[in-house]
Amino acid sequence: MSTGMSGGPGAPGVPAAGVVAAAGQGAAVDAAGAAAAHGAPAGEVLVSVRDLVKYYPIYGGLLRRKVGDVKAVDGVSFDVRRGEVYGLVGESGCGKSTLGKTLIRLLEPTAGRATIGGEDIFAKKGDDLRRLRRRMQIIFQDPVGSLNPRMPVSDIIGEGLIAQADRENRWGDRKVRDKRVEDYLEAVGLRRDYTRRYPHEFSGGQRQRIGIARALVLDPEFVVCDEPVSALDVSIQSQILNLLLDLRRAFGLTYLFIAHNLSVVQYLSDRVGVMYLGKLVEESDVAELYSRPRHPYTIALLSAVPEPDPRIRKKRLVLKGDVPSPAAPPPGCRFHTRCWLRERLGNPASCETQEPPLLDIGAGHRVACHFVDQVSDALVSEVVGRPVGPAPAAGPATTSAPSAPA
Ligand SMILES: Nc1ncnc2c1ncn2[C@@H]1O[C@H](COP(=O)(O)OP(=O)(O)OP(=O)(O)O)[C@@H](O)[C@H]1O
Ligand code: SF4
Ligand SMILES: [Mg+2]
Repeated sequence: MSTGMSGGPGAPGVPAAGVVAAAGQGAAVDAAGAAAAHGAPAGEVLVSVRDLVKYYPIYGGLLRRKVGDVKAVDGVSFDVRRGEVYGLVGESGCGKSTLGKTLIRLLEPTAGRATIGGEDIFAKKGDDLRRLRRRMQIIFQDPVGSLNPRMPVSDIIGEGLIAQADRENRWGDRKVRDKRVEDYLEAVGLRRDYTRRYPHEFSGGQRQRIGIARALVLDPEFVVCDEPVSALDVSIQSQILNLLLDLRRAFGLTYLFIAHNLSVVQYLSDRVGVMYLGKLVEESDVAELYSRPRHPYTIALLSAVPEPDPRIRKKRLVLKGDVPSPAAPPPGCRFHTRCWLRERLGNPASCETQEPPLLDIGAGHRVACHFVDQVSDALVSEVVGRPVGPAPAAGPATTSAPSAPA
């Protein structure tokens, strides 16, 4: 999508509502299409993350001294390719939102490196940081809490434009700004004259559309979608997911799509990363992950996905106990306190003493488990309770709605 546009359907980079609608009419939405809309080759790395660490300090005692850290993200490395949807899954509290917010500089990292298009995200300051922010946006989970109830829609969406106004884009000019806001309202399927309304006048799904317009109006390349449908009715979820897929193609976007629902991630991701207690434990392309999961944690998550056919009864593998505190993560493999494979193998010592590295087991499938070679397709089928089949292709928009959040 071009930069420096003055706004308006027909202006470079602003797809009219029809363009967005057409993208959803059976057109397969893929990374190549999305990247092409940005004039860039699919497959090249857009966002690269290396050894990212984000700790929250814990203060205690009368003097409020620092007594520890919540190790929310603790050494995570991965790449997001241009035009793809990278799904990030894991239980509540494993660090997904912290990772997403740190990446786009809503939070400051404790350590690590990250780049977008080769530019150092964490080194930017002042005006360079302001320009960088335009390239990376976020869609929040809670469409109620994330929209200021005292602001009309024109100001909610226009706020970022004012912050990014310059002589070239003329977003400081009210008329230019309002026109652009209306264009983006239309692009997300809302009426242009909604600009004067307030958040309470909209349904949950409409509010999330406003949140999406606010993120996209700045013409970003990379969007963190932080559980954008979790707070919505199931009937609305698939509409918003399909809209996100359509917009991705029309605007040439790259998504980091955060969710704790494996069905949603399967539905729209190209590749998936599975997080556990601040670490990435498995990563692969979506079809491989759902048909050949290899980390015991991923396998347990898949086993917990409800079976859509009520005639089929399956035994669920229940994860034992709660997720340990990220303030005191277990030594060695962080999953060892709940790992069913470790139990089957007679509790080998290395699980408690050595942290398993995230290693490529072939074709970009990375797994962090000392005993990955013990995991066969037969074992996975036995544990998950059914043969694990290949994932459905991402898109077309007419695909049935994903199941309710697990
Ligand atoms: N501002 C904060 N200060 C201290 N600890 C925090 C803060 N924000 C998050 N945490 C802690 O960091 C850990 C990771 O939180 P985070 O919100 O990133 O997880 P998450 O995977 O997004 O969870 P959820 O699925 O519930 O949204 C949790 O233990 C959480 O309690
Ligand atoms: S390293 Fe051990 S505890 Fe960790 S996932 Fe593998 S078998 Fe389980
Ligand atoms: Mg979160």
